Amino acid sequence: MKGAHEVLVSASILNADFSRLDRVVHKMERAGADRLHLDVMDGNFVDNITFGPDIVAAFRRLTEMPLDVHLMIAEPARYMDRFIEAGPQTISFHVETAESAERKTEAIEAIHAAGQGAGLAVSPDTPVSAVDPWLDELDVIMIMSVHPGWGGQGFIPETAPKIAEARARLGRAGRGGLVHVDGGINSKTAELVGTHGIDVCVVGSALFQRGSDASDEVELVKQRALRGYAAASAAVR
Ligand code: DX5
Ligand code: ZN
Repeated sequence: MKGAHEVLVSASILNADFSRLDRVVHKMERAGADRLHLDVMDGNFVDNITFGPDIVAAFRRLTEMPLDVHLMIAEPARYMDRFIEAGPQTISFHVETAESAERKTEAIEAIHAAGQGAGLAVSPDTPVSAVDPWLDELDVIMIMSVHPGWGGQGFIPETAPKIAEARARLGRAGRGGLVHVDGGINSKTAELVGTHGIDVCVVGSALFQRGSDASDEVELVKQRALRGYAAASAAVR
């Protein structure tokens, strides 16, 4: 029998107070987040600039939580060794980047050689089928539900069915890969991504709202996503 469906929360620290990353990390641990999602931006693939491998390594020293690196950089293969060295659990990069298919394959192989999980991220205007050449090698498909670049944007509902497409592909590949959804996820949007079978909800700004409790939000996102999953499963029965 298949085990019960599980939904995890990966906390994106993009909208946190960068002057006290230690506090941010411990707040996310206390809030019950399962993983940390680290958004790397280069001002080229996206307009915004955030941080590089040294900061990922600093997060590694601060916590034992699993780290998911999300590279929004134009040349992920070029910098891959340094991100691998920083020691995250997974590294995902964008399938839309201009590096060749061979370079992408090499980058995925390098991630695996280090014992880490490899992922491809898919922007809102890109079909999920773009990841098909690498499907058998993927531990993560990251469905972007906002245009990459900034935290705090509104969820794009049209992207939600791509979660189910990615889930079906990973199921067929049989590697146990997980679908992450990234952008605009909160207790209101979680149910919809749940109906499409989401595995990992990336939650950013919703965890850093003044006056609201991050642990309540983590719990609500999981509950609502599971409620969506249960409703969708009942409907097809
Ligand atoms: C967007 C980033 C996301 C984002 C999530 O480019 O990849 O990880 O920070 O934050 P919210 O949940 O605020 O959309
Ligand atoms: Zn992200």
